[in-house]
Amino acid sequence: MTKLGIIGAMTVEVETLKESLENMTASTRTGMEFYEGKLEGLDVVIVQCGVGKVNAAMCAQILCSCYGVTHLVNTGIAGSLCADLDIGDLVVSRDAMYHDFDCNAFGYPSGKVPGMDVIAFPADETMIRYAFAAAEAVNPGHTKIGRVASGDQFVAEKELKNKIIERTQGLCTEMEGAAIAQTAYRNGVPFVILRAISDKADDSAEMDYPTFERIAAHRCAQVTKTLAKQLKEANQ
Ligand code: ADE
Repeated sequence: MTKLGIIGAMTVEVETLKESLENMTASTRTGMEFYEGKLEGLDVVIVQCGVGKVNAAMCAQILCSCYGVTHLVNTGIAGSLCADLDIGDLVVSRDAMYHDFDCNAFGYPSGKVPGMDVIAFPADETMIRYAFAAAEAVNPGHTKIGRVASGDQFVAEKELKNKIIERTQGLCTEMEGAAIAQTAYRNGVPFVILRAISDKADDSAEMDYPTFERIAAHRCAQVTKTLAKQLKEANQ
């Protein structure tokens, strides 16, 4: 039976989803609160992982090892790396890679984690399809499918933004997705990342982020609910 782990980056987003959770029980591990229950009739575990790759990977592994999730979705906000992606628009991951992982000195290409057989961790085709349909239902005509570029940096400079685009060809940048993707990949758990654009990851990012984070986070929560509904219907 499907059990969806939902990893949110922000309080506002997790709170919105929590309000819709039925038969909720809560438990704490490594300082993170895990909320189990039914969202749109689907068994889910919702958790706010905190910022950055280590928090994200820990959280995803706990969901796999301790809560037995069968699927993972990471939802949150991101900086745009693409001129066609404006604030409020949505990105569904085709795959995810690190923009700050560098073993070039040993001949590895940028982003490649030694020992892994891929540079970018591929999202699940079915979850991509459902996430895209859910995003289109909430905000028609404003969703792109592509690469998510993750690193332990809030990107707020044009120069860094351009370097990340060159290294990754990503559509958006954030701080957790690829770590969740790598964890899901190693556990054989299908995943997708769903992000709403809160800023342009350039010199305007520090101003735009606080203005738009709530709007973007709410939009993501709406899409995640719709995704849960679709997964439930597909499993009936
Ligand atoms: N999340 C939202 N905007 C971001 C940015 N510009 N850089 C990294 N993470 C983000």
